[in-house]
Amino acid sequence: MSTDLFADLPGIACEDEPMALHTSFGVGGPVRYFVQPRGWEELALVYERCQEAGLRVRVLGRGCNTLVTDGPHEWAVIATTALDGFGRSGNRIEAGAGLRLPSLVAMAEAWGLGGFEPLAGIPGSVGGAVAMNAGGRYGCIADHLVGAMVILPEGRPHWVDAAGLGLTYRGSCLVDGCPFLLSATFELDAARPRRLQERRRSIVAEKRATQPVDARSAGCVFKNPPGQSAGRLIDQACLKGTRVGGAVVSHKHANFIVNHGNAAASDILNLIDVVVGRVEDLYDVRLELEIEVWDDGEEGGQPHGTA
Ligand code: EPU
Repeated sequence: MSTDLFADLPGIACEDEPMALHTSFGVGGPVRYFVQPRGWEELALVYERCQEAGLRVRVLGRGCNTLVTDGPHEWAVIATTALDGFGRSGNRIEAGAGLRLPSLVAMAEAWGLGGFEPLAGIPGSVGGAVAMNAGGRYGCIADHLVGAMVILPEGRPHWVDAAGLGLTYRGSCLVDGCPFLLSATFELDAARPRRLQERRRSIVAEKRATQPVDARSAGCVFKNPPGQSAGRLIDQACLKGTRVGGAVVSHKHANFIVNHGNAAASDILNLIDVVVGRVEDLYDVRLELEIEVWDDGEEGGQPHGTA
């Protein structure tokens, strides 16, 4: 339903939208507005309206790495879904923040451009993947990133080189949509599509064998502590199968929490606290969240489970 605040921008906003519909965990309470701008000018306008209305703005990609608390929340969530354009120039691809990461990987493969195979099987959006520097054992999205077009809410788009994005292991300086990433540009290597396909298939098969890819989850919940594996520590702590309400530590990979259908966000948060507490008691290691938790706490505050 379009609302008064966005009445002149028909079809881009819904009111009281349950975030459970927009997150891979399938949890999250309603937010005051859920808005999907179609370009940077519309985005700037939406942001300005939200500021005037005194609403807290949060930016969502495809919701694959985000745990939204049960709410209701007086937020305006700006989703990048409609910013999903892409283009190719030689070995470079420019992709909109809202483009699905699997689509980007498939396109590159079809064009005979190699380098994205380590991202095969990772869900989510290009923007979310850059913001958290998504990746796995064989590489991460930063490996082929040249730079990005970003915009501060009150400003105009500008180019930032990859080095200026502060990319780290599962992190960057793009925090809660500030600055807002509009598109990212990648430089890839010419390769035979057949070879790329083989590599992608083998990485996906490995993932399917070791991770609960068909369950409702947000991927790995915790970052790997330096030199260690969060999954192994949680497994060794005998936490596989531990349940709080509808939230369960996966039997397949201990760094995944899965929603068995009826979990509330509070179940997942309580289970996270159980896991963090047990691992710290046994191994004196404080696990840090890889997923982002959206609650009504202080803006820019530290998520649960972090120091
Ligand atoms: N392990 C266990 N028990 C488990 C899970 C893992 O003993 O329940 C052991 C494994 O046997 C292995 C070690 O822990 O010896 C590492 O496990 P794995 O190879 O599965 O890799 P990971 O470090 O747990 C990382 C990424 C994944 C990515 C995989 C594969 C992080 C936090 N996770 O997992 O990324 O898919 O490598 O490339 O960096 C994600 O970021 O959401 C994610 C799933």
